[in-house]
Amino acid sequence: MYIDTHCHLDDEKLKNDLENVVNGFLAAGVERVIDIGCDEASSLLVKEQAEKFPCVYFAAGFHPMDIERYDAKAEETIIGLLKHEKCVAMGEIGLDYYWKKDNKEDQKEKFARQIEIAYENKLPINVHVRDATGDALEILKQNKSKLAYGGVMHCFSGSREIAAEMLKLGMYISFGGTLTFKNARSALEVAAFVPDDMLLTETDSPYLAPEPVRGTVNTPKNIPHIVKKLAALRKTDEEKIAENVMRNAKTLFYKLK
Ligand code: NI
Repeated sequence: MYIDTHCHLDDEKLKNDLENVVNGFLAAGVERVIDIGCDEASSLLVKEQAEKFPCVYFAAGFHPMDIERYDAKAEETIIGLLKHEKCVAMGEIGLDYYWKKDNKEDQKEKFARQIEIAYENKLPINVHVRDATGDALEILKQNKSKLAYGGVMHCFSGSREIAAEMLKLGMYISFGGTLTFKNARSALEVAAFVPDDMLLTETDSPYLAPEPVRGTVNTPKNIPHIVKKLAALRKTDEEKIAENVMRNAKTLFYKLK
């Protein structure tokens, strides 16, 4: 009944124990996960993982931190992967000025380019933004006509105003472990305000494990902690949140079965 719309099962911390990781999240009621690629090699690996496990789907693309390796050959590989029956999105793509400030123009160019590729391949985008909200919003607005297949702001931590702008562009808002952290003030406000039909959940495993397991290696089995927090914030029950989120995920990521 639960879905994790953003995790990295190809990470060193998870990939060698994948059988156990998958059994663990299935036992916790997490029926679907989207395994997210960050560059050419990781996109190829998440595809392999999706081919091995029926509950695993994937996204292919270049994370802003990895775009130094973005070239014509890598792009061709990614475009090939997008056509796979279990590839449900292009991502993760976006801007990250927290880790890298010296290649902003290159980040912006590759972000816009990948939005275009996603559109040409009729797929939604999975967007990562850190310390670059203004520029990200500008690029999304400039490319509004190419957002016909929608997208999601992953691990959203912006303000209510920014969330409203993203929603206007048809972007879903996804919440993960940071929502359960003590300093999550703006995320709490946004999580209470996002419309039922635009809400998604994720873990970003192996990073950002939610309370009360913060600091451990995160896996998709921790989705129920995030759903519990969302239910409390939105004054509804967990089952209703889980149902809504699953429906939303299947609407946005229409290749999900
Ligand atoms: Ni991620």
